[in-house]
Parts: sequence; structure tokens; C-alpha cells
Amino acid sequence: MALLAGTSQQCLGRQGCLKTCAPSAAVLRSAPRRGRKAQLVTSASAAAGAEVPSPEKRVIMNWLLVGAAALPVTGLAVPYIAFFVPPSTGGGGDSIAAKDAAGNDVVATKWLKEHRAGDRSLTQGLKSDATYLIVNDKSEIEKFGLNAVCTHLGCVVPWNTNENKFKCPCHGSQYNAQGKVVRGPAPLSLALAHADIKDDVVFFSPWKETDFRTGQNPWWT
Ligand code: FES
Repeated sequence: MALLAGTSQQCLGRQGCLKTCAPSAAVLRSAPRRGRKAQLVTSASAAAGAEVPSPEKRVIMNWLLVGAAALPVTGLAVPYIAFFVPPSTGGGGDSIAAKDAAGNDVVATKWLKEHRAGDRSLTQGLKSDATYLIVNDKSEIEKFGLNAVCTHLGCVVPWNTNENKFKCPCHGSQYNAQGKVVRGPAPLSLALAHADIKDDVVFFSPWKETDFRTGQNPWWT
């Protein structure tokens, strides 16, 4: 009774609670020994029951934890892996869609409406190199493209419509309409790439066959 009386007093604040609610030494001394032990065990069990969640709750919490961790990990892993995958727009193999000045895939029918026979305009090709897409005399897209990088020291070589040749502004090298070098100091012809149309989109792919302009193996492979 003395113990119950000691613990049933109301708390009036933190300090008051410590002073008022804790059973005094006199109270504990007056309580029967077995009763005190039973009360301590009951209090510990009650506290443990209040803090430890049930197994079902722990399973749910574990799954929530896994889900919360998986989202950011997946979000970081996908672009990280994608960084090592070579860019391609679905041409198959090692081909890549030609890109126009705006970075869009070159659509053959649209390109031919805007570019006349004999046109040589720059697109983005293999390895992001500037690459000439050629419209031949039949107003078709030619089966090969020309890498626009000069084989001397790497300037981009402009097409000169009036002279029907490529003329490098850096040191004067010249290439004919098919990119074959006709004047140095450039030592080699412009590199070739296959240009094929798939689903109306132009794709470039590496040219590994004999260079039809020189009859020699391609120097760029
Ligand atoms: S870089 Fe073209 S001629 Fe020198």
C-alpha cells in the first residue's frame, strides 16, 4: 500500500516528477520484498513491450528500408552504366544515326527536299566527327560519307561549290569531290564512312573495305 501510494502521485513537472513519483527509501523499505521484485519485472516487461515492434512490423519496416535504399541506388546506377554504353540510335551493329546541325536524326526524305543534287553538307557522324553527307547527281543520298577532318593537321575542310572540291583553309590542301587528296601537304584522302538509310533515317557505319578511290586498304581503321 505504501508503494502504491508512493507511485500514484501526480507529476507536476520534470523536477517534481523525480522528486514526487520516485518511491522514497522509506517506502521501498516498507514494501514487501517479493512485491517489489514482481513490480520491477512487470514494469520492465511493459517497457519492453512498448518499444520492440512485432515481427510483422519489423518485416514491413525492413522492406520499406530496402525500397528506400533501392530507389536512389538504381537512380545512380542506371546513368553510370549508360555512360559506358556507346551512343547509338538503334541502327544495329556499330552504325549511328547521322545528326543535323540541330542534333536531330537526319531524315532522308526531308533532307532531299532541302538539299539539291551535288550538295555536300556537314552532319555529325561516327565518333561525333564532322562528316559530309553527299547528294549525288541522281538526287539520292550517296552510299558513303566523307569525314571532314583534314588529314594534315586536323582542320575541318570546307566544300567549295564553285571549284567542285574541298579546300583546307589552314595550309591549302585540296581534295576532289570524293574526298581524294589532290594537293598536299595533306598526305591522305578524307576518311570514308558507309551511309545507309533505314526507316528513312540516315546511318553512318565504319568503312572497313578497300578504299575505292585509291585501291588500298583504308588508313583510318
Ligand atoms: S590542316 Fe589542312 S592543310 Fe594543314
